[in-house]
Amino acid sequence: MENSLKYFKNLYSKIAANSENHLFNFLNIKYGICSKDYYLKDDLIFNTKEIQEIECFFKDLSSGVPFEYIVNQASFYDSEFFVDERVLIPRPETELIIDYFKSLKTNKNFNIIDAGTGSGCIGISIANLCNQNIVFGVDKYLRSIEIAKINKNKLNANNFKLLVGDWLLPFKKNSIDMVISNPPYITEDDEHLKHLKHEPLTSLVSTDNGLKDINIIIKQSKQVLKKSGKLIIEHGFNQAQDIENILKDYNYRNIFNIKDYQDHQRIIVAEL
Ligand SMILES: C[S@@+](CC[C@H](N)C(=O)[O-])C[C@H]1O[C@@H](n2cnc3c(N)ncnc32)[C@H](O)[C@@H]1O
Repeated sequence: MENSLKYFKNLYSKIAANSENHLFNFLNIKYGICSKDYYLKDDLIFNTKEIQEIECFFKDLSSGVPFEYIVNQASFYDSEFFVDERVLIPRPETELIIDYFKSLKTNKNFNIIDAGTGSGCIGISIANLCNQNIVFGVDKYLRSIEIAKINKNKLNANNFKLLVGDWLLPFKKNSIDMVISNPPYITEDDEHLKHLKHEPLTSLVSTDNGLKDINIIIKQSKQVLKKSGKLIIEHGFNQAQDIENILKDYNYRNIFNIKDYQDHQRIIVAEL
């Protein structure tokens, strides 16, 4: 029957052999179908509207649209964030920033910036860990700020403040305790870009070997950070040494790196 779960499972196995079970995830998110029903009730019947939606899901998935954009949802640090093609899909390695943040002792009334906030995943996760601090989420693009606002409301992050701006230009000198950023750092000719064509290029690519935006953030952080303020930046797997050199040129201290799940240096931490 062309309206049964069994029929759609068969179709799915043809388009997505060996990949993660996105069909189950889709049906679960859209229609609340639990795993017991998914695995045991092959005769489950869908109505006309649902059939159209499932067919549309197959079409998008076959044409390479990331699952997170199809369902408008991405997991990050135990929360579900709204996402669409206006923002980068949060990545697991970025969660390492939150792990590191949790290991720190922060005082009350800390001012923290999430520079290039996108979906707001970093800033909101941190704001919800320490609700006596203020976390500013800044992004150059209003379209990103619109998504971050949806997530701020969805996840009740009242101490997360959003603003449109060019990196740290909106902030006063010596006013910030911590700058955190996952900026664009991929080079323009990186071969991985062909697999990322649904995500905004403005979230991914930076000139000067992928280091232009990181350079600006390091320079501007020197202005806005208070004495002993911290800078935390996610970067490409082969950029750690270059970034360390830039940080040293600006006299940052206590520089060290955190490795990702593939054992690549991924997050650099420095102090003013
Ligand atoms: C790699 S994405 C990170 C998004 C999100 N923080 C995350 O970790 O998933 C980089 C973000 O920086 C923003 N961005 C790019 N250039 C910027 C600039 N000059 N000033 C502020 N934000 C910028 C992009 O719009 C994008 O949202």
